[in-house]
Amino acid sequence: METTKTNGRRYTILSYGCQMNVSDSERMAGQLQAMGYTQIDDMRQADVILINTCCVRETAEDRVYGKIGEIKAIKREHPELIFGITGCMAQKEKDSLIKRAPHIDFVLGTNKVQELSQIIRKIEAERQHVVDTVLENNDMPENVPIAREGKFSAWIPIMYGCNNFCTYCIVPYVRGREHSRHPQDIIREVEQAVAQGYEEVTLLGQNVNSYGKDHKEADFADLLTMVDQVPGIRRVRFMTSHPKDLSDRVIAAIAGGTHLCEHIHLPVQHGSNRILKAMNRVYTTEKYRDLVKRIRAAIPDVSLTTDLIVGFPGETDEDFEQLLAFLKEIRYDSAYTFIYSPRSGTPAAKMADQVPEAVKKERLNRLMAVQNQISLEINEQLLGKTFEVMVEGPSKNRADVWSGRTRTNKIVLFEHGDEKPGEFVDVKIMQPQTWVLKGERV
Ligand code: SAH
Ligand code: SF4
Ligand code: F3S
Repeated sequence: METTKTNGRRYTILSYGCQMNVSDSERMAGQLQAMGYTQIDDMRQADVILINTCCVRETAEDRVYGKIGEIKAIKREHPELIFGITGCMAQKEKDSLIKRAPHIDFVLGTNKVQELSQIIRKIEAERQHVVDTVLENNDMPENVPIAREGKFSAWIPIMYGCNNFCTYCIVPYVRGREHSRHPQDIIREVEQAVAQGYEEVTLLGQNVNSYGKDHKEADFADLLTMVDQVPGIRRVRFMTSHPKDLSDRVIAAIAGGTHLCEHIHLPVQHGSNRILKAMNRVYTTEKYRDLVKRIRAAIPDVSLTTDLIVGFPGETDEDFEQLLAFLKEIRYDSAYTFIYSPRSGTPAAKMADQVPEAVKKERLNRLMAVQNQISLEINEQLLGKTFEVMVEGPSKNRADVWSGRTRTNKIVLFEHGDEKPGEFVDVKIMQPQTWVLKGERV
């Protein structure tokens, strides 16, 4: 980060949603810092508050409405406060947010991140409501200062938007069509991150496997290989991989790479072909199974994780049993499990046979129990093995215990030695559990 004089004013950014939102927040924080603002945690002392929002499920939106309400009292005490809503809900709700909550000063859409400083200046000068949410797909936040949140791991967006229109999902409507960054811009950002001391990067996109299909300058396999070769890089992660686009070239690139981590987040969403079809996921369980076979043959000890949705419209007991059976067959290292949440404007929200809430909850609990057992069994196989761990910092519960990650993205806890966060150390697994591996430095 360049050093800039402060203007004595302070900002808070509350981020919800996925890593793409975190990355956008870093680019907004960078602009505020370049204007002289400094970060502060206590919202009541802030001169600018941004809520960078998510609307992927109703629960995410409810949390944001709660926060918007909380900030009303702060704004009453402190009328000069500039309060903005950014991100996916801003894109979805546009000016209706200000109609509902007039203490919001501006609404900034998802492809407008790079315009934040201009808008703040305008409001500082004119004190007017501003809504800027026109979705132009070519806009990308290039050449914007970045204030990274992670100390040792850098998020690197490689593409924005999504073309897949899974029938349950709001993301394509609020993020626009896929547009890939130029490879040289991505490599430059990785090099800058390395120069700042980052040894781990995570390449981000809604579907990284379709990287470059729009500009054809490089595909995802090429890009992985280019990032792998950036001097000083030690770990390269990437997400999310849509199963329909994961090519043998990408598998070969990961298998042949040096710093490309052996972890693929490969959301299957469901294990019933009928439901996958209704979701517009475009693959079948047979195709997915074959893909997993090819991945596991090429990349030994790869860890596979997934996202699962229960209670999609029309999901019968039999569909759900097929999902459980598929999980037991594939055996993911871990899974993010979600209850289907109808999103207005998406095809699934209008489908018949919406599943009752109580049934969804019961299925979610059963699903989690099955997956937790599998995660534990897989982790138990790691007893006595030694892994390279990047130390991230103190564990949540004990200051004398470090938390770090393996290349396969498993969390490892071990007692402090003389190592520091950011360092790479070897840890032997002594006590594997469902969510974490407890070990000792060797
Ligand atoms: N682009 C990524 C992730 C997008 S959102 C992908 O395709 O995998 C992250 C996850 O949220 C999805 O994988 C899906 O499991 C879940 N999700 C999306 N829309 C949802 C909805 N309406 N209800 C419940 N879960 C949803
Ligand atoms: Fe949503 Fe599907 Fe796009 Fe992922 S691939 S963001 S689930 S539409
Ligand atoms: Fe949420 Fe938008 Fe990400 S809807 S999951 S923040 S792309």
